[in-house]
Amino acid sequence: MKIAVLTGAGVSAESGLKTFRDSNGLWEGHDVMTVASPQGFARNPELVLDFYNQRRRQLLEVEPNKAHLALAELEKNHDVTIITQNVDDLHERAGSTKVLHLHGELLKVRSTFDEDLILDWKTDLNLGDFCEHNHQLRPHIVWFGEAVPLIEVAAIEVEKADVVIVVGTSMQVYPAAGLIQYAGPDAHCYFVDPNPSLQSNSRITVFAEKATTGVPKVVQEIANMN
Ligand code: APR
Repeated sequence: MKIAVLTGAGVSAESGLKTFRDSNGLWEGHDVMTVASPQGFARNPELVLDFYNQRRRQLLEVEPNKAHLALAELEKNHDVTIITQNVDDLHERAGSTKVLHLHGELLKVRSTFDEDLILDWKTDLNLGDFCEHNHQLRPHIVWFGEAVPLIEVAAIEVEKADVVIVVGTSMQVYPAAGLIQYAGPDAHCYFVDPNPSLQSNSRITVFAEKATTGVPKVVQEIANMN
């Protein structure tokens, strides 16, 4: 079967990475527009670079959790595309091979001069770190107000899916939050989140629980379908 998986910060919460909108979330200490917008970067680049340096350092200290691993397992018997709003690499480290990062990747940076000039980057990024054209490098992250280049590709993946699994997203940030609407009429959807923003109905099964227990249950249900 073709499976599309939509994940948000909640799938990485049990690996120790903060979500955005839960209590004590990432946005709690920061004004989003100060640390995650082009205007914020222009106004105070050091603050923005430091915000992402802290998150990049933390990412290198954490591991994928059972939810990431269960989703990677699915690839053994199905055609799985992970469509994630997350900028961490935990899906890849768990073994998923087809991962679309709608909001960019924390372990990559790009030139402020040529947005197609993208580099792998695992250390701190500071002012004065320039690309080969001598322009400042920035985090390869989609900031608020910037385009989400992969959204069309993601919508097609959801449209083609027999099963759609949504894990750990508050469904508050568009266009990512709108992807579930592309699920085909015959597709069955699963939603795993301790505070689900969707209700169960004939087409969607909600597991109102954490990813590390809910996702393995979904994987088991899919295994029983065959
Ligand atoms: N398991 C599963 N889900 C969880 C867990 C957990 N252990 N803990 C929290 N959650 C759920 C919350 O209930 C919430 O629905 O994860 C979701 C987190 O929501 P947000 O913090 O809004 O994160 P997300 O939906 O990924 O945000 C989308 O907003 O700020 C932008 O670019 C940023 O990609 C991000 C986007």
